[in-house]
Amino acid sequence: MPIEKRILEQISTTILLLNNKLRLLYINSAGEMLLAVSAQQVIGQPIHAILANLSPHIETKLQQALNQELTFTEREIALTLNDGNTVTVDYSVTCMHHYDAEPKLLIEIYKVDRHLRISREKYLSSQQKAAKAMLKGLAHEIKNPLGGLRGAAQLLERELQQQDLKEYTQIIIAEADRLQNLLNRMLGSYRVPKRQQLNIHQVLERVFSLIHAEYLELKIHKDYDPSIPLIHGNLDQLIQAILNIARNGAQAAGSQGCLVMRTRVLRQFTIGTIRYRLVLLVAIEDNGPGISQEMQESIFLPLVSGTTSGIGLGLTIAQDLISQHGGLIECWSVTGKTVFSVYLPLGMQSD
Ligand SMILES: Nc1ncnc2c1ncn2[C@@H]1O[C@H](COP(=O)(O)OP(=O)(O)OP(=O)(O)O)[C@@H](O)[C@H]1O
Ligand SMILES: [Mg+2]
Repeated sequence: MPIEKRILEQISTTILLLNNKLRLLYINSAGEMLLAVSAQQVIGQPIHAILANLSPHIETKLQQALNQELTFTEREIALTLNDGNTVTVDYSVTCMHHYDAEPKLLIEIYKVDRHLRISREKYLSSQQKAAKAMLKGLAHEIKNPLGGLRGAAQLLERELQQQDLKEYTQIIIAEADRLQNLLNRMLGSYRVPKRQQLNIHQVLERVFSLIHAEYLELKIHKDYDPSIPLIHGNLDQLIQAILNIARNGAQAAGSQGCLVMRTRVLRQFTIGTIRYRLVLLVAIEDNGPGISQEMQESIFLPLVSGTTSGIGLGLTIAQDLISQHGGLIECWSVTGKTVFSVYLPLGMQSD
């Protein structure tokens, strides 16, 4: 093997070479590992079959680079791999034009260091914690006077002679109850939840039947990995967390849309700062309009809602319940595709 080729096979950057029909001519070992493919399988394949996830308009961009002999780089792109896992990458495309041959495209893909993800996670979780603490304080302050208000309205109702005036006290009582429910949702349960060994598919089947009953026409595709080990957790909490995510997906996809519920096991995966030997991934994917980059920054914060009917607590509660299980939720979205990935540790930390 010539020395140049040996170097290409040794480096950790993924290198792909395409011909002017955007078909793969070469992939190095790092590329085979990153994309979980073998060179034999993919040589000669069109690039969109190999890297469809890298960018929504990857083919157009590459064609432009080829036509106009351009070089371009995109940073912090979420690349969904065959195993369902998402990694953050930077990639560069260079058009190589030799006078005696057809132009070729060189694609280099660099995995972005995990520090980036971890520090972002840390920042987001401290932001969420501060917002939640403030909200809980506020909820407590409202709860007591609200009880007084409701009680007083009940007493008043008993004293009222005129029937039509009772309509007003009924409104006060009903609205106080609605606020009470909202506050209970914000404060969460005080009881320490009971944990048990459970199969994540038990959780997903419950979520499936609830969503199916609510959105009869929505297509729901199950893509389960049956070999997933049991997880130690609270059934109700996990159902609530996944349901909140799936319900958002169903709402976004609409009745003609499609929802995918996927499970996978990931090896040697870091959540926060802890590296685990095995991590469970539950991905909920929908083909709704997607979430803008700006909105993605804040959807996990309480009271952030992009819908008129929502309160903006679904994802805050889901994130809270999943973090009580040592896990994490991430969101990745482009137009027409949104994926919420729930990572839950399966047992032991890695050494
Ligand atoms: N799959 C998705 N596709 C598009 N937008 C989404 C998706 N998931 C969440 N969002 C956006 O994030 C916002 C926050 O979601 P969240 O579940 O926290 O609150 P909500 O659905 O508005 O209210 P609720 O408290 O009733 O759940 C949503 O209002 C919506 O704008
Ligand atoms: Mg919601």
